[in-house]
Amino acid sequence: MLHEDQVRKALQTVLHPRLKKSLVDIGMIRDIIIQGDTVTVTLGLKSERSPLKNVLADDIERAVGSLPGVATVRVEAVTLSREEAERMFPRSPLRGIAKVKHFLAVASGKGGVGKTTIAVNVALALARQGHRVGLLDVDVYGPSVPLMLGITEALDQQDGMIIPVEKYGLRVVSMGMTGGQDEAFIWRGPLVAKMIHQLLDQVNWGDLDYLVFDLPPGTGDPSIAIAQAIPDCAILMVTTPQEVALADVRRSISLFHKTGQTIIGLVENMSYFLCGHSTQPIEIFGRGGGEELSRETGLPLLGAVPLDLDLRQGGDSGVPLLVSAPDSATGIIFQEVAKKIPGLMP
Ligand SMILES: Nc1ncnc2c1ncn2[C@@H]1O[C@H](COP(=O)(O)OP(=O)(O)O)[C@@H](O)[C@H]1O
Ligand SMILES: [Mg+2]
Repeated sequence: MLHEDQVRKALQTVLHPRLKKSLVDIGMIRDIIIQGDTVTVTLGLKSERSPLKNVLADDIERAVGSLPGVATVRVEAVTLSREEAERMFPRSPLRGIAKVKHFLAVASGKGGVGKTTIAVNVALALARQGHRVGLLDVDVYGPSVPLMLGITEALDQQDGMIIPVEKYGLRVVSMGMTGGQDEAFIWRGPLVAKMIHQLLDQVNWGDLDYLVFDLPPGTGDPSIAIAQAIPDCAILMVTTPQEVALADVRRSISLFHKTGQTIIGLVENMSYFLCGHSTQPIEIFGRGGGEELSRETGLPLLGAVPLDLDLRQGGDSGVPLLVSAPDSATGIIFQEVAKKIPGLMP
């Protein structure tokens, strides 16, 4: 006769991919029910949308299925209460972000797709909707948030903590504010991780609903450092319709999945161009790339942002579109994207 202890022992071998601890020890295994040769395991997850759901279910099926006398393994996922989740997955002790509710990193497969433009305008749109929003620019290769927001002041300190610069209702810190421009070169490997750790620990972000990160392209050191420091940081993927950009973004998506992070959706940038008085969109870079990627990956396409001269000028002049013309056609697209975000956060 199969006994619950045997199942529990087999489950000891199933580790949480990030915490590297057994699901049993973490407390994620809620129930084990044995009926003849069928074993039903109830798995507690932080969210119904947890990207770990399928990975862990496979591992559980494999571990329990290998026991003698087991024919069928069923995994039932249940959502943990907030208290349970907080106990099992303690918040990072990083002081600066102790009172930040949600983390959202804007990522892309490659540079120049408008990641910073999207990060800045989505952050502003969230703030417009009444959320308290911070923006942390960790693009070590080209921190351009200060430029896009017209920030020239340096960071201040108070009681040993760094104070973010307030601009257009956002609390902003950029790697580009922490030293000379040409220092970007030295932000490599362990240094990047250390710097990011410092920006999360020693910047007094205060009470925030959202801290938005402008990541460098791809999934390099800064992305990994953030994934490790903030495991529940959600990812918003920016892509352009070109096939080349799509290939890069596919690679990034699979890497983010491996670190167990939730990608909440895609935004397609430079999707189309509205020419003069014509209402007919012109698809310069081809069409439907974002939709195709969305179908292929199951990630929702949260919006398609057109090529818009005002958007570029806003970025160049330090007055972003969501400040100068929030209710323009493109501004409204950003507002619509921002409206969908709260419902998608892990
Ligand atoms: N939808 C758009 N329409 C017009 N210009 C855009 C658009 N998106 C981005 N840009 C411009 O393209 C350039 C690159 O955008 P940026 O946001 O800096 O990209 P990334 O952060 O991915 O490198 C900037 O000059 C920006 O103003
Ligand atoms: Mg950028």
